[in-house]
Amino acid sequence: MTLLRDEDLAVAFDHASRSYDALVAANPGYHAHLRRSARRLGLSDRTEGLRVLDLGCGTGASTAALAEALPGAEIVAVDASAGMLERAAAKRWPQGVTFVQSSAERLAQAGVRGPFDAVFAAYLFRNVADPDAVLGAVRAALVPGGRLAVHEYTLSGRAVDRAVWTGVCRGFVLPVATLLGDGDLYRHLWRSVVEFDTAGDFARRVRRAGFTDVRVLPLPGWQTGITHTVVARRPGEDTEVGR
Ligand SMILES: C[S@@+](CC[C@H](N)C(=O)[O-])C[C@H]1O[C@@H](n2cnc3c(N)ncnc32)[C@H](O)[C@@H]1O
Repeated sequence: MTLLRDEDLAVAFDHASRSYDALVAANPGYHAHLRRSARRLGLSDRTEGLRVLDLGCGTGASTAALAEALPGAEIVAVDASAGMLERAAAKRWPQGVTFVQSSAERLAQAGVRGPFDAVFAAYLFRNVADPDAVLGAVRAALVPGGRLAVHEYTLSGRAVDRAVWTGVCRGFVLPVATLLGDGDLYRHLWRSVVEFDTAGDFARRVRRAGFTDVRVLPLPGWQTGITHTVVARRPGEDTEVGR
């Protein structure tokens, strides 16, 4: 199968939105890891008045992690899938959280404009057709010194981590997703991770896009060597990123 992109991917997520929250609830550490990555933006000590973009917010799991890590921040949560967004918007949110339907590639056309103090993207970048273009747009939308945290399935490059990823997908994720009628999306998930950058390659991609202080931070549990937070900063102000 080829990877799903753009409209095909949005339609697949529309369908999967019905069971997305239940599936991620069965994934140990999913929400705790998002909260850890949100804290790794390194902004938790001055959150009031911050403007943060949650790119690829889905049903709002990453948005909730940001709202907890950054109380009082204005959070603009964006997703291409109407179905995922509908689930997100139906939840209870603190003041200052808004949802916008847009692809990451066409933020300006959807009226999503910077500057943002931080951009968070959880499980998004494997899905976009041109990650370099999206990173460029993200950089342009950040204030000088603004923070980026990308929380992503980015393999370590070690054969054992790739084998664990394939084992989890074949042994649990794909059988369940196929029963739910979402087999194509979760086959896309498996393959997009295997074919995407390793964590080190993604960090180099982020540097090439003009970010500084780029660091790859691990996450624990079965996701060790499989899921990482890549934190970075738009050049322009001398502040520390990641914890
Ligand atoms: C795996 S979900 C992750 C959702 C959420 N960030 C979380 O942590 O649970 C990926 C989300 O990215 C969205 N997405 C994929 N490609 C996109 C694009 N090019 N522009 C905007 N959203 C996109 C999908 O619709 C989906 O809701």
